[in-house]
Amino acid sequence: MRALSIDRFSPIEDLRLIQMPDPEVTPGEVLIRVVSSAINPVDDKTRNGDIGDSTPPFPFTLGWELAGIVVEDPTGRFRPGDRVIGMSHQLGTGRGTWADLVSLPVTEVAVAPTSVGLVEAGTVPLPGATALQVLDWLDIHADSRLLVTGAAGAVGSIAVQIASSTGIHVDAVVSRPSQIEYVSSLGAESVVTHVEELPARSYDRVFDTYGADASEAISDGGRYATVATQAGPAPDLTARTIDSELCQVRADGDVLRQLVGLVDSGVISPRVDSVFSAADVVRAHQRFAAGNLQGKIALVF
Ligand SMILES: NC(=O)c1ccc[n+]([C@@H]2O[C@H](COP(=O)([O-])OP(=O)(O)OC[C@H]3O[C@@H](n4cnc5c(N)ncnc54)[C@H](OP(=O)(O)O)[C@@H]3O)[C@@H](O)[C@H]2O)c1
Repeated sequence: MRALSIDRFSPIEDLRLIQMPDPEVTPGEVLIRVVSSAINPVDDKTRNGDIGDSTPPFPFTLGWELAGIVVEDPTGRFRPGDRVIGMSHQLGTGRGTWADLVSLPVTEVAVAPTSVGLVEAGTVPLPGATALQVLDWLDIHADSRLLVTGAAGAVGSIAVQIASSTGIHVDAVVSRPSQIEYVSSLGAESVVTHVEELPARSYDRVFDTYGADASEAISDGGRYATVATQAGPAPDLTARTIDSELCQVRADGDVLRQLVGLVDSGVISPRVDSVFSAADVVRAHQRFAAGNLQGKIALVF
């Protein structure tokens, strides 16, 4: 099979498909033929070494999420031919999804949504699981006020869609005025481009996705989550009785099943900026690095 695997930290231009043995299917795992995956910021940081020492030993295959077709499932949960999505905690396991064939624990796979194609479906698992798990940690209820920063991004946009669909009042911070209309269409009530524009001490919860300092915007007694690992720990707001946390995503099939339901009920609309063949991985990454994305970049195998 082919895989986008690296044996050292590499520039984009060194990425290429290489031939590798097919994965072994160990007990409890399902073998999937990958149709589509996507580029996430963590892949970029892992490839170029920005992630630091926490990479698996070289060589390893990149990629955290997939949509594909079941080839074999000795556990019997899925049938050959089933359309599925899956998430792999690539940094923890070294098992990437940018390959023709991937074997994943059956507990980290779910039947794919039926309302969208596999390219769209393959962009949801990592940002979707992150959004759901962080919203769960935030323990927020209808009529509360939530601030989402980086709300036009993959994690932020899913968080806005889920939270606003449950009656939570969501405001948002984006990087550019051109993103305001999109994020408003997802259900955000007020969208600004700078944290300084936010009303002081007005939000019950903050969900930060880029390392914003929104400490002045959250009310005393609130909860403050960030997923921006590159920005260091969450601000310490204990003096104001605010619980803050740098949250880390976990692979979880139950969460994937919730995401599938949210896609099929129209709560989450996956947004794809562009689609590239896996063989065209260098151009795909150049698009990713150029920024100003209108959704995710899909890699089709
Ligand atoms: N801890 C975890 O388990 C976990 C899980 C998933 C993701 N993450 C991390 O979370 C971050 C977000 O992931 P993602 O997939 O959502 O990335 P993404 O799609 O690139 O979204 C990030 C968003 O933040 C915006 N942004 C960046 N700087 C900003 C600023 N100064 N002001 C306003 N907006 C700003 C970006 O705007 P532009 O497009 O204009 O740059 C983009 O819309 C990444 O760092 C990722 O590695 C962590």
